[in-house]
Amino acid sequence: MHIAPKYIQAIKNGEVVAFPTETVYGLGADAWNSEAIAKVFATKGRPSDNPLIVHISDFDQVNNFAAEVSEAAQLLIEEFWPGPLTLVFKKKPEVLDIVTSGLSTVAIRMPSNEIALGLISKTCPLVAPSANKSGAPSPTKASHIKADFGSSVLVIDGGSTQVGLESTVLDISGDQPMILRPGVIGKGQLEKVLNQTVLIDDKSSEKPKSPGQKYSHYKPKADVKWLGSEDEFEDTSSLFLLLNTEIKQQNIINYSQDFEKLARELYDRFRQADIDGYQKVIIEPFDERYSSSVIPALLNRIEKATSI
Ligand code: TXA
Ligand code: MG
Repeated sequence: MHIAPKYIQAIKNGEVVAFPTETVYGLGADAWNSEAIAKVFATKGRPSDNPLIVHISDFDQVNNFAAEVSEAAQLLIEEFWPGPLTLVFKKKPEVLDIVTSGLSTVAIRMPSNEIALGLISKTCPLVAPSANKSGAPSPTKASHIKADFGSSVLVIDGGSTQVGLESTVLDISGDQPMILRPGVIGKGQLEKVLNQTVLIDDKSSEKPKSPGQKYSHYKPKADVKWLGSEDEFEDTSSLFLLLNTEIKQQNIINYSQDFEKLARELYDRFRQADIDGYQKVIIEPFDERYSSSVIPALLNRIEKATSI
């Protein structure tokens, strides 16, 4: 994939560059340059105790950051990389504290997006949080980044991202693998590859293991709510996202159980709802009885948006 020289040069100069991944856009900086990484935190307004994911383009690069790649890790890497799975390893001592917020672990993933892989392979491993202002929904289009940062951030426009929700974060640094953030790669798929039970971080615990999970996320200015009764459809100041019921109305979008499509579009709907002046985004409840592997991740993001 050809990457324009100005983006490559910007990373080499210690600047930040936003780029597409298959999940959401990331705000990239050289993973070995603490000043460049400080700009990522400053640009986003991100709390310094929320660590970053290192993005690699070459399998060998994992060894520059992870202290050890276990057999289990190897199985996961072979199955899911490049792709939307972030693995948390015990870190090498030389990994910068600003990357890991001083934790003894480091999160790593190899994205599958060709632009992301091209940029990393022409530069170096990149830290890349989602390229939104802290607290705003993650960007799934270049225009979302412009909305948050104006033209102050260089953006490589790769169109809409394919998955639309952030990667699954799986901690394999302890005795038992644990999902810290659900994503499109689900517990069942991970267990099948590992032949072992995968735990899910108890979100109610006071000290979440994935520090980012304690911050408010994913929320538009409009209130996000679950649909209570069909009487609510009369409310023209709300945008409705329906999964089962099908109704034709200007402020209703029908997903007809296409959960992958809702995942792809959710953050764009949130952002567009604010632009269109809706007071609320009301979503028809659904649960894990449907067989889509993206449902736990969707429920996680929507629950977070409704709980603020
Ligand atoms: O799909 C994604 O993962 C996107 C794209 C750009 O790759 N990136 C992303 O980054 O969502 P960010 O920074 O918005 O979220 C990273 C999450 C946070 O919840 C953070 O706390 C967690 O990963 N994390 C990072 N390093 C960690 C570590 N060492 N231990 C536990 N959690 C970690
Ligand atoms: Mg984020």
